[in-house]
Amino acid sequence: MNGLEALKKEAALRAVGLVNSGDRVGLGTGSTAKYAIEELGRKVAAGELTGIVGVATSEASEQLAREVGIKTEPLDPRPFDIAIDGADEIAPNLDLIKGLGGALVREKMTEVQARRLIIIADHTKIVTRLGEKAPLPIEILPFGFLSTVERLREFLPGGRLRQPGAQPYVTDNGHYIYDAQLPEQFDPHALERRIKGTLGVVDTGLFLGMAERAFVAAPGGVRELVR
Ligand code: A5P
Repeated sequence: MNGLEALKKEAALRAVGLVNSGDRVGLGTGSTAKYAIEELGRKVAAGELTGIVGVATSEASEQLAREVGIKTEPLDPRPFDIAIDGADEIAPNLDLIKGLGGALVREKMTEVQARRLIIIADHTKIVTRLGEKAPLPIEILPFGFLSTVERLREFLPGGRLRQPGAQPYVTDNGHYIYDAQLPEQFDPHALERRIKGTLGVVDTGLFLGMAERAFVAAPGGVRELVR
């Protein structure tokens, strides 16, 4: 395991330390959330946590949870005690960009129901403003996607449809993603409203006011950031 992976795991272990027996847990997606799911599975197998139910935010996390022995259920309206997930960017107020792994809609639908959303990351995810390093993923319907992309480009120029090969990238929901370049200055809530008001858009990777705390691992140790 290289240095960055070890840091991601360290952050994940800290977050899993907040999970109690009997909790309903939102299971995030991505290479950092993977360590949290594995650690939860280890604790369940060791009898350190009992009665845990997980709700996965992607097909990949669902499969991993099953592999490590975590009981899973589909999303329903009940709240979660806790959700643990990674992020692509973490602003000083713990607003986030998520979705480079493509799971933004299921993540947002799950995590909005969590009493506590705990973010786990290595230090490279910390930014002073959203959009500093990462694009903003926007999930859009495949139907008429070129029209939707054009509508988005009117106020978010410079982005592009996510297309790793010959075909567009397809999310677990069967949708496409437009990776938008954010301007240097913007009002996140106003931008979120404008994007979501754009015809053809499903949702965005802006997670505003949702995270309670973040465990951010750096070579000097894990920092705990609280909103
Ligand atoms: C998945 O769609 C994302 O929101 C991830 O949570 C995010 O991309 C962080 O992933 P890593 O932990 O792999 O960087």
